[in-house]
Amino acid sequence: MSARKSEEIEQLPGRRSAELIELREKYVTHALGIVCPSFIERAEGEFLTDVDGNRYIDMASGIGVNALGNRHPAVLDAVRGQLDRYLHLCFGVVYFEEYVRLAERLARLTPGDFDKRSYLNNSGSEAVENAFKVARYYTKRPKIVSFSNAFYGRTMYALALTGKDAPYKQGFEPFPAEVIHTAYPYCYRCPCGKERESCSLECFDEIYRLVNDVSNRSRIASVIFEPMQGEGGYVVPPEEYVKELSKLCTDKSVVLIDDEIQTGFGRTGKMYCAEHFGWSRT
Ligand SMILES: Cc1ncc(COP(=O)(O)O)c(C=O)c1O
Repeated sequence: MSARKSEEIEQLPGRRSAELIELREKYVTHALGIVCPSFIERAEGEFLTDVDGNRYIDMASGIGVNALGNRHPAVLDAVRGQLDRYLHLCFGVVYFEEYVRLAERLARLTPGDFDKRSYLNNSGSEAVENAFKVARYYTKRPKIVSFSNAFYGRTMYALALTGKDAPYKQGFEPFPAEVIHTAYPYCYRCPCGKERESCSLECFDEIYRLVNDVSNRSRIASVIFEPMQGEGGYVVPPEEYVKELSKLCTDKSVVLIDDEIQTGFGRTGKMYCAEHFGWSRT
């Protein structure tokens, strides 16, 4: 028995979870970490019950994915209805109504008073990589600017964009090229060493220089930005920074990728986090 496994089992409240951890250790890759070493049997709303009968408040919601809680009746009805009709068809092979209806709804919900079209992906990493592909294809430029401490996923380009080295990037070098990292506007631990009162947005200078630099000017396709940084520590940027960034990207025809994978729908009090920074739906 490894040291880690015996520690986990000692912390565990029940026997059945301990038995299942033995199986997990034997058959599931050790590359996956764990936050709460317990096996869940049932979930309802905000509660989880494990195989030993212990109840927990679900503060993680699948890392923000289950925004409606567990087993919301409307979600269950939709899933059951779908099971009875068909499952995977692949929109690239044959059309089905739900894809179009969801895209229509997203167009209505997403900020911006222009026409919008959707492409639906399986994961955040895939969405991030495809957004960058779109930016490159559209601008015909190679580079992208990303931010310190950001997390963008586990695939190779998403890792290259990720600004936080430990634990995500260590041991996986080298990464795909053409990524430039700059400091995220984090007022509590100001990257420029300023107090909030004396801030004149010095942290914006670097990205301004990068986008305007003659050697880079025609080479930056995109900036990928979280309007509230998630894995980086739940960091809320100053409103002026986000507005300046949006203006800079518009002025220089640089595609601004708004990564709201962590802020999710409605999690910041508005449907999209970007709505807190002046992007509205109309
Ligand atoms: C801001 C952000 N972008 C991208 C991702 C990657 O999403 P996924 O794990 O679904 O690939 C995450 C995941 O936590 C994220 O927080």
